[in-house]
Amino acid sequence: MLLHTVGRQLSAVVELRATMDLNKIASCHKNVHILKFDVKDFNTYGEFSKSVADIVGEEGLNVLINNAGVSSKFTRVNLVKYEQMMENFTVNTVAPLMLTKALLPLLKQAAQKNSAETFGVKKAAVINMSSVLGSIADNRQGGFYPYRSSKAALNAITRSLCFDLAADNILVVSMHPGWVKTDMGGTNAPLTVEQSVGNIVETLLKLDKSHNGCFIQYDGKQLPW
Ligand SMILES: NC(=O)c1ccc[n+]([C@@H]2O[C@H](COP(=O)([O-])OP(=O)(O)OC[C@H]3O[C@@H](n4cnc5c(N)ncnc54)[C@H](OP(=O)(O)O)[C@@H]3O)[C@@H](O)[C@H]2O)c1
Repeated sequence: MLLHTVGRQLSAVVELRATMDLNKIASCHKNVHILKFDVKDFNTYGEFSKSVADIVGEEGLNVLINNAGVSSKFTRVNLVKYEQMMENFTVNTVAPLMLTKALLPLLKQAAQKNSAETFGVKKAAVINMSSVLGSIADNRQGGFYPYRSSKAALNAITRSLCFDLAADNILVVSMHPGWVKTDMGGTNAPLTVEQSVGNIVETLLKLDKSHNGCFIQYDGKQLPW
């Protein structure tokens, strides 16, 4: 999960369960803060949002990237398990919604603070990290029940949030990062993390009112629901 404030000063709040090399990054960049957080632990959301509030201060939080995700791969109908469905929905669907809810006061604060900025990430935005595998229109191969359905449901959440948060001047989009060489994407993926993230940042900076509630990929191309 990545919380990322793109403002006058680029600053980031990064959280995940294992800190790995992040300590090294944080030691070189004073504006990177690491918070340990399990998105499945819904009882800790209040405490987590207080910690984020302490870091962002009166600026609020201008970008929330709901990035944490899990994938039960290659699941055909005869193999799919109840536990896989529950795990994928908990992390990929329920957590992004509940975290957005928990951090909404900080997103609203940023939108007000950045009132002179145009609608988009410099004002306030929620980026739900989705996947093209969540596209119902583009599903031509079947399978992947837990992952596909949890990301399709996340896209439905993006669409509802875009209307519910528009009055507070908060943009909401679903983003497909491309097929990327990560633990999830594997070594056959065509994109490196640097290529995907570089494109995502460029695309995020170009988002405006016309993109609110859209499903787009790393390079800005719109995807079918
Ligand atoms: N890679 C691709 O090709 C691809 C394609 C489409 C969409 N996506 C989406 O992009 C996002 C990032 O995926 P990735 O490729 O970086 O996957 P990844 O290599 O498997 O990394 C997943 C990340 O999610 C975190 N996470 C998982 N469960 C969590 C939990 N309960 N609480 C907190 N953090 C948790 C992991 O933290 P730990 O390391 O601590 O476990 C890890 O940082 C996901 O939403 C994924 O669905 C990826």
